Amino acid sequence: MGPPIHTVRVATCATILSGLLMASAVMAQPLGLPPVPIPPDNPQTPEKIALGDKLFNDKRFSSTGEVSCATCHDPTKAFTDSPLVTSEGINKLTGTRNAPTVINSAYFKLFFWDGRSHDMEDQAQHPIINPVEMGLVNHDPVLKIVRSDADYVARFKKVFNKEGNQVTMKEVQQAIASFERTIVSGDSPFDKWHYGGDEKAVSEQAKRGFNVFLNKGRCVSCHAIEQNFALFTDNRFHNIGVGVNRIQNEIPQFAPAFLSAKAAGTDVDKAVLTNPKASELGRFAVTETLDEIGSFKTSTLRNVAVTAPFMHDGSLKTLRDVVDHYNNGGVTDPKQPINDFLSGGIRPLNLTEDEKSDLVAFMESLTSPQFAAQKAASANPISCNVKTTVAASSPVAPTQKSISGGEGM
Ligand code: HEC
Ligand code: HEC
Repeated sequence: MGPPIHTVRVATCATILSGLLMASAVMAQPLGLPPVPIPPDNPQTPEKIALGDKLFNDKRFSSTGEVSCATCHDPTKAFTDSPLVTSEGINKLTGTRNAPTVINSAYFKLFFWDGRSHDMEDQAQHPIINPVEMGLVNHDPVLKIVRSDADYVARFKKVFNKEGNQVTMKEVQQAIASFERTIVSGDSPFDKWHYGGDEKAVSEQAKRGFNVFLNKGRCVSCHAIEQNFALFTDNRFHNIGVGVNRIQNEIPQFAPAFLSAKAAGTDVDKAVLTNPKASELGRFAVTETLDEIGSFKTSTLRNVAVTAPFMHDGSLKTLRDVVDHYNNGGVTDPKQPINDFLSGGIRPLNLTEDEKSDLVAFMESLTSPQFAAQKAASANPISCNVKTTVAASSPVAPTQKSISGGEGM
């Protein structure tokens, strides 16, 4: 485990990533996806995207100097920290929730599992000052760095025409969001078949699984697909019975206590990521609407096969476990009671064993080529298994440029 091996591993990851991603750079618009929505007040430019990439990877924006956005949204792990159940921030502190991928998150209308952030620009400020993520007390250390580091000074001047105290968190967040809007990937075998008409792109089993997804499984009612593209999310919040049983008996006391604390000034972002009970309140913590207790945002299913474990709490290990949970009608263990706030859309499905396997095969057909290759690489112990590869800037730059290749500015 000496330095030479480490170097080899980094080189392997970099080579795999840049090689494969270059191939996809020629693609105009990834098959299966609509154009990325770009807010009028934050237009994309190549320099801003590159600046956002640098900020996303800067570990100096954490209290220990060891954690960047990319620590938990690792480009070599499909922009997650798979296989961690819940994320590890500074000093290996763990939060309450599983890190969702940043891939295609540009299409979401609200951010975080409970939708507590209204856009990507806003989202980017929170992890920096969350005590279990990047752990800064406030944003001042970030501003100090971007206002004094020569490379940042030059870049902010070029991108925003601002310098010194004119550079604020607004510009930092805009650049990060611009970079994230380039992390887009479609072109999965499913897209090639369903939207591209290539009958050979997926197996017969995956095609049968798609039929289960649309009909008997009723998955599509929340994981939506459209005529010309599929985001696999309705951008809404539902209680599907994950995690909420942990607080079920305490809700009558705990929910009002949470609301009082919130009214008294408790920060929701900090509360839900540090207090396991508060986390399970889900969308309720934001909207304070009782029937949204235990509701979470419908995940995209793109690249789901490479981002285990699953759900907001990372409690389901495999896609098979997910299918069993739905098949049981919203309980992981069939002996558990159904929770009081379960979505009306979740009912026992009576799927056969074959139908369950077909559904898993369908979800496995949603992996974009660049991340399918990562999965193959990470199965090999000599390649992308090492977390520290995040630190290397070389694999990161080609990743964003190439993935972004399709996206207009
Ligand atoms: C310690 C790990 C960690 C770090 C560091 C981190 N994140 Fe996250 N990220 C998470 C977790 C966990 C969530 C889900 C939290 C929730 O929903 O309550 C998340 C959610 C997100 C989302 C929302 C995705 C969605 O589906 O709604 C985006 C976007 C994101 N992070 C970007 C960033 C950016 C930008 C940074 C750096 C400024 C960052 N993250 C730093 C773990 C991390
Ligand atoms: C009523 C709406 C609804 C229906 C129907 C539904 N889902 Fe979901 N799905 C969700 C929500 C909401 C989440 C996130 C829940 C959480 O984390 O607590 C989710 C999460 C998932 C995840 C985990 C994604 C990840 O990245 O962690 C998978 C996989 C999944 N669903 C597959 C399916 C399949 C397969 C079906 C059909 C059998 C289905 N869903 C039916 C709403 C739904």
